Amino acid sequence: MKILVTGGTGYIGSHTVVELQQEGYEVVMIDNFENSQPFIVDHIQKITSVRPHVKQVDLRDKAALYDVFKTYSDIVAVVHFAAYKAVGESVAHPLKYYQNNIGGTTNLLEVMQAHRVHDMVFSSSCTVYGDVANPPVDESAPVVKANSPYGNTKKICEEILQDQTATANLRVVSLRYFNPVGAHDSALLGELPVGVPNNLVPFITQTAIGKRQKLTVFGDDYPTADGTCIRDYIHVVDLAKAHVAAISYLKKQAATNGYYVFNIGTGKGNSVMEVIRSFEKVSGTKLHYEIGPRRAGDVVQIYAVCNKAQHELGWKASRDLDNCMQTAWHWEQQLKNLNL
Ligand code: UFG
Repeated sequence: MKILVTGGTGYIGSHTVVELQQEGYEVVMIDNFENSQPFIVDHIQKITSVRPHVKQVDLRDKAALYDVFKTYSDIVAVVHFAAYKAVGESVAHPLKYYQNNIGGTTNLLEVMQAHRVHDMVFSSSCTVYGDVANPPVDESAPVVKANSPYGNTKKICEEILQDQTATANLRVVSLRYFNPVGAHDSALLGELPVGVPNNLVPFITQTAIGKRQKLTVFGDDYPTADGTCIRDYIHVVDLAKAHVAAISYLKKQAATNGYYVFNIGTGKGNSVMEVIRSFEKVSGTKLHYEIGPRRAGDVVQIYAVCNKAQHELGWKASRDLDNCMQTAWHWEQQLKNLNL
């Protein structure tokens, strides 16, 4: 079965392409390579011994998208990652985010419909739950007003997909990721932040390798056991496998249309300090960090209830925080060897 993966050279996309190929799917990947690197395709090939079909396409270019579906007329499902994802940048450039993330998704839906491709897995985020009063959070929790244009694009895309599945011959699984971290065991794939990382784990590994001077912990006066914020850190390979499970799930559905939402996390919350301690333990290094002020917009704590994914997708996270930090560290060391 041929699967189209948009944003296939990105962090989560590349790991998903690997898992799909290892499950025997044939992958066509498209990417505009704006925030990713072509060498990732070689690394996917190294891991799986299969080179995916690759096209440089921007989802805002509808004609190019039509061409992809014409060239690969036997695509049976789409896994849709391609989007901008930097929260701070989205506040400074909201239109850029709305045009790319929403415009890209509506183009994709139109072209899928024209080519009678009926199944999609969408890359959503726990950001749609906002600041949850009583974690853990399950899928019945209300979707609230987003606290950034980035978060709003995820919320709006979910609404568009839900509306479209109500009328069209379309089935969509939205996976609401918690905090994706870690890297492939081969150290050939991992997160490649553009510029200074916004996220905790790449900031930790870049500090440890010497690219950054020190990590600032954004606040230690939150109402949590050690005063730092709590998140549900999910290993990117576990997360990638959830997409493969979602494709099987869609193919098993009897209904011709439907919208299905799943939380994808570990079900366990870890504080920023626990993440730092785990990194220090597995890397055998002392991390240079200091406590700084809170970062605007951070929620105190959020972690997932993932029972629905376990029961309906047959998916469950298998890796712990130490494995996340170990693989992220190996990847950072590998990047140094590649001079990246
Ligand atoms: N943190 C630090 N120092 C840093 C970076 C992060 O202390 O240099 C802390 C943050 O304050 C937070 C935790 O580490 O408590 C995790 O922060 P990340 O930036 O790694 O992740 P977020 O939970 O803020 O963001 C993630 C995704 C976003 C998504 C958001 C939804 O990266 O795409 O969850 O809640 F929008």
